[in-house]
Amino acid sequence: MKIMPLPNIETLLDIGIALSKEKDTGKLLETILDAAMNITGCDAGMLYRLENDILDFEILIVKSKGFRMSSGGTATELPPVPISSRRNVCSCAAVGKKPINVADMYDCSEYDFSGGKYIDAKAGYKSVSILSVPMFDDRDDTVGVIQLINAQNEEGTIIPFAAEYEPVIFSLASQAAICFTNRNYAAAVTELLDSFVRVMSTAIDARSPYNANHTRNMARYAEKFTAWLNAHSDMVIDEERNRNLLMSVWLHDIGKLVIPLEIMDKQGVLTDEEWRVMQSHVLMTRRMLSEMSFPKQNRKVPDWASAHHEYLNGKGYPDGLDGDAIPFEVRILTILDVFDALTAYDRPYKPAIPVEKAFAILDDMAKKGQIDPYILDLFKQSESWKEDGKTTEKREEATMNISKTIENGKLILSLEGKLSVTTAPQLQEALIPAFDDSKEITLDLTKLAYISSAGLRVLLIGHETAQAKGAKMTLSGVSDEIMEMFDMTGFTNVLTIV
Ligand SMILES: [Fe+2]
Ligand SMILES: [Fe+2]
Repeated sequence: MKIMPLPNIETLLDIGIALSKEKDTGKLLETILDAAMNITGCDAGMLYRLENDILDFEILIVKSKGFRMSSGGTATELPPVPISSRRNVCSCAAVGKKPINVADMYDCSEYDFSGGKYIDAKAGYKSVSILSVPMFDDRDDTVGVIQLINAQNEEGTIIPFAAEYEPVIFSLASQAAICFTNRNYAAAVTELLDSFVRVMSTAIDARSPYNANHTRNMARYAEKFTAWLNAHSDMVIDEERNRNLLMSVWLHDIGKLVIPLEIMDKQGVLTDEEWRVMQSHVLMTRRMLSEMSFPKQNRKVPDWASAHHEYLNGKGYPDGLDGDAIPFEVRILTILDVFDALTAYDRPYKPAIPVEKAFAILDDMAKKGQIDPYILDLFKQSESWKEDGKTTEKREEATMNISKTIENGKLILSLEGKLSVTTAPQLQEALIPAFDDSKEITLDLTKLAYISSAGLRVLLIGHETAQAKGAKMTLSGVSDEIMEMFDMTGFTNVLTIV
């Protein structure tokens, strides 16, 4: 009775190449198990993955029954094995870092095969010979165990696993473990980069309350829009391009980090010089991103991110790029950027514009040759800006009335309605000059129904202005609801509330 011939060097090299090419970790594990089974000619095989000291079942293949199952299926019959389990053959192989070869499972007292016997009985199968091989990587960390079952000779008779197979499967398992660890490592680095990018841009947005959701909104539109394009248009954006587009969205305004807040938050018209400084954020974006070492597959991100104010007619900035010099992804980025700037509820210099009006402005920009009309049309069709079934334009427009009275030389401003991002500038306009008329101002909030973070910010600006002008600002009639709405309790040491 001859055993299956040992694989030649070409076969082993082919397996090595197949392993190193496989990007999907699930498929990688299947490739490993298939290769080990083909080399030994065995009938069945299992693969366990080690995580947090537990061996979790991952794949089971039984050739004679035409059976193939992964943990994503219905593998509930195969319980996880704690690495501390001293009599389980898989955990012993994992801990001992050596293959364990058992000629007959039913005639072996060294290990506890009650689990295997139970599964045999349930599945109507008979496991006899077993070869358990640990998979450990170049850092000597065990990542899993391959368990091969029922070696067969060339006639198909079940025989013990020949000792010659042990080093072959052992080295294959190590090679596979290294590939597996590298895949996981690459995925972890990718996730680290993505999360770092998100944290950075969120921190930059948070510098100004007027811009707090800009990048987040754009990322949301971009994700929905590319998914829609893939499903409904002839434009296919594969995973890598999609990731680069999203990363460019997250990073496009990173240069705003160095724009002074006096300019970022200015509520009036910017001077020419202030516009120049504001526009320089794209150059800063480019400079900052060019200092970062992006992986090869993300190398376009700095260029894409810093081109979001370029126009197709060459009249954008900073480089005046035109036509084909502006990639498809950047054209998307520009449209999303303008759309969110127009419809945002938190810009200092203007109230939010309804979606139809924003599209009228974008249509006009397309007519002037600034943005891509085709992409704009697709973006409209996609309705990617809608959130949870309702459109942003349906949000209630907040209103507020301010009435002025003077009592014993003291100025009282009574607010009625909602002090929100859209009405906050109204209060600021009334408040700032008021300190020139009176050194004591009371804001009566009895009839105020709502206060937002932008509203609170104006109250703080009012307080600072009062101090600068040697005046005093007091809040009265602040209800518990208002107090809680934006947790004003934290500000009672700054704002005088009576
Ligand atoms: Fe920008
Ligand atoms: Fe932007």
